[in-house]
Amino acid sequence: MSNLDALKQDITAAVQAANDIAALEDVRVSALGKKGKVTEMMKTLGKLSPDERKEMGQALNVLKNEISAEIDARASMLKNAALNERLEQERTDVTLSIRPAQKGSIHPISQTITEISDIFADMGFVLTEGPEIEDDFHNFTALNFPPGHPARDMHDTFYLPDDDRQTGDDAKRLLRTHTSTVQVHVMQNQKPPIRVLVPGRVFRSDYDMTHTPMFHQIEGLLIDKSTHMGHLKGCLTEFCRRFFETEGLSVRFRPSFFPFTEPSAEMDIQCDRSGGELKIGTGTDWLEILGCGMVHPNVLKNCGIDPEEYQGFAFGLGVERVAMLKYGIPDLRTFFESDVRWLRHYGFGIV
Ligand code: PHE
Repeated sequence: MSNLDALKQDITAAVQAANDIAALEDVRVSALGKKGKVTEMMKTLGKLSPDERKEMGQALNVLKNEISAEIDARASMLKNAALNERLEQERTDVTLSIRPAQKGSIHPISQTITEISDIFADMGFVLTEGPEIEDDFHNFTALNFPPGHPARDMHDTFYLPDDDRQTGDDAKRLLRTHTSTVQVHVMQNQKPPIRVLVPGRVFRSDYDMTHTPMFHQIEGLLIDKSTHMGHLKGCLTEFCRRFFETEGLSVRFRPSFFPFTEPSAEMDIQCDRSGGELKIGTGTDWLEILGCGMVHPNVLKNCGIDPEEYQGFAFGLGVERVAMLKYGIPDLRTFFESDVRWLRHYGFGIV
């Protein structure tokens, strides 16, 4: 074996033995550096005859290139190995979820509004909405509230503070206290026959176990030429039986008073309170469920509808109240606390 072959074997063995970049660099310096073995041999070329020099020079260049290539290959192999080792050490298992999968749910208010809307949609009622910021006219005057009516009082109604108009002025702005305001908008803008269902937020200054300053109502309004109290009773009885899923549910209509309906009634459903538990659809007790009545002729007039030609009925119910009854939710305030545990318990799955 020539000297060069032996040298190459030595260096190759050293390259392969180098286990990190620093060791490899040492090998490179000892072979190709200023004082390296190959470099030293280059220096001896001058002492050779021209022919030998040419041959030896070429051979040394080939050797130098081969060694460089070997070192480069080993270097990239070592770098790769180091990188892989580091990646393995710093590895984060992204396939592990940070928390157990969270599942959204439908709030009982939304669920209840959907259920009620579905039932009335089957009877031909069309879903409508109206503004939450209203004026005295739509909330009171048009609905036949007399000027000094207590509901106009500051204690119940949130008036907007940014205008100087006084309570009782039709333009005075307020947060609507009931969805009956939308009756006015609808009658002013649509020609009868009218059949609308209006879910929405309403606001009253009140806060305890059974009152929150914001809650939800659903208003119904039906206007036609020959509408009478029998239609009201039929629609609302059918609604309660379907909503509470009780075929033979007994109901009763008690005389009541609302300025905007005449006659006015409150509707009760049959229930049982014995044993401290409330059961709907059995027993001999009654539970108030909604307010209703025949639209007052003054209201029709105020909204541009001729009471000689048209009449109709209206009703309003509290969404939270019926949701509490149907789903056994004891405290009204919990509806608006956004407690995820409450939502998990009372919410409805998304399908
Ligand atoms: N607006 C009434 C309330 O808030 C409910 C109602 C609506 C009564 C329609 C009769 C007719 O109490």
